[in-house]
Amino acid sequence: MTGRAFSSDSISYLTQREAAEVDEMLMGPAPGFSVDQLMELAGLSVASAVAEVYAPAEFNRVLAICGPGNNGGDGLVAARHLRHFGYAPAVCYPKRAQKPLFTGLVTQLESLSVPFVSVEDLLGGELLNGFDLVLDAMFGFSFCGAPRAPFDELVRLVACLSRDKAERDGKSPVVVAVDVPSGWDVEEGDVSGEGIKPDMLVSLTAPKLCAKRFSGAHHFLGGRFVPPAVAEKFNLCLPPYPGSAMCVRIGKAPQVDISALRVNYVSPELLEEDVEPDPMDQFRKWFDDALAAGIREPNAMALSTSGKDGKPSSRMVLLKGVDQDGFVWYTNYESRKAREISENPNAAIMFFWDSLNRQVRVEGAVEKVSKEESEQYFYSRPRGSQIGALVSKQSSVIPGRHVLAQLYKQLEEKFSDGSGIPKPGNWGGYRLKPRLYEFWQGQPSRLHDRLQYTPDETEGKKGWRVVRLAP
Ligand SMILES: Cc1cc2nc3c(=O)[nH]c(=O)nc-3n(C[C@H](O)[C@H](O)[C@H](O)COP(=O)(O)O)c2cc1C
Repeated sequence: MTGRAFSSDSISYLTQREAAEVDEMLMGPAPGFSVDQLMELAGLSVASAVAEVYAPAEFNRVLAICGPGNNGGDGLVAARHLRHFGYAPAVCYPKRAQKPLFTGLVTQLESLSVPFVSVEDLLGGELLNGFDLVLDAMFGFSFCGAPRAPFDELVRLVACLSRDKAERDGKSPVVVAVDVPSGWDVEEGDVSGEGIKPDMLVSLTAPKLCAKRFSGAHHFLGGRFVPPAVAEKFNLCLPPYPGSAMCVRIGKAPQVDISALRVNYVSPELLEEDVEPDPMDQFRKWFDDALAAGIREPNAMALSTSGKDGKPSSRMVLLKGVDQDGFVWYTNYESRKAREISENPNAAIMFFWDSLNRQVRVEGAVEKVSKEESEQYFYSRPRGSQIGALVSKQSSVIPGRHVLAQLYKQLEEKFSDGSGIPKPGNWGGYRLKPRLYEFWQGQPSRLHDRLQYTPDETEGKKGWRVVRLAP
């Protein structure tokens, strides 16, 4: 592994025969998958890809049109997962396969009260008005020839959706195709011109040749189950899947109109009578909420400083301690931020907790923490981070990555006997002592709540004054 980014130009596309051979090998003695397992993983990949692009709040009503073969089975599994993801799927499954695998999938959907709709209902016009998203799981990589009734009509109907989209002012459902858009040739694409033109294509295992001709907005790959032996045998070059994802985007980045990106925040109101009198207590409360909400790195904060020239600069740092005296982070005392702080101790930090629609701003003066406090934290860090602190002359210009790697290696060898790594003198903590806080809670129609705390003294008693600011 070189760690280089995967290039989507190098991805493998399969012929129809290769796709069949890969499938056969996957279900052969090694690696020995069953068709049920592959179908389950394929359907889960499709549902995950749908959820990644089309949020259930906006695209709730999903129609899965399932064909008689395995592609239809993938659609049934996807519909079941989408139901669990919070969508309201319905299924059109006119030519039901009778094998236990498929009858079982139908029973599972029925036990989730997923409705089955008839072809007649769809042809009667319900399709256009009743759904936000149509999942085309009619035909997959093994299909050839022309679709037979009733799928010929269904393909025509779904194909019309994309063709007439502009005329219908974006009111028609989006179309997501499973592996191969129905009506397409598996290798040549939409040769008849009458196939489905999906907005999203979820290729499974590896994209088929026809996917090169896909021009919709979102191309994903799913089917995270190909073991190295199968990839090697077929010379497959497939992208890495991020983290624990069941799908990965392989097409171009989505084209979006930045000016149209907006979220309507819906949150509980933040009222003066509900907040803590001490802003540090309020901060802790919100920090606990951020932890409970599973936000990744809730302690990441933007730190803004400016030197004597008054020009501000911002960067992220990690909050490593919080107490009545303030907010602590660690860094290099010779970095740009350190130079600016030495020239001007006034700084601002800011937390943004996306899924909670919350922002916290804190402003105040910054001072170094004691050497003992810095040492205590330094020695609690993993050895790799300790060596890293020694290696990096933060914010200075270096000729290339290799310099860091070389120095890291040298130091790793130097301390390979397990001896203690001394804290560098130019590394340590800072504490921002707050003199202003603002708690921001996003609300619908941009009528956000903003409560600002500033120090206050009444009758010789120190406290905080809370005011509401206009959003
Ligand atoms: C999420 C996140 C957390 C970071 N945490 C720290 C940190 O705790 N300390 C630090 O020195 N740099 C941290 N960095 C790197 C800084 O953003 C920045 O690149 C570095 O401190 C140099 O900044 P400067 O040149 O303005 O001094 C973090 C970056 C990110 C994205």
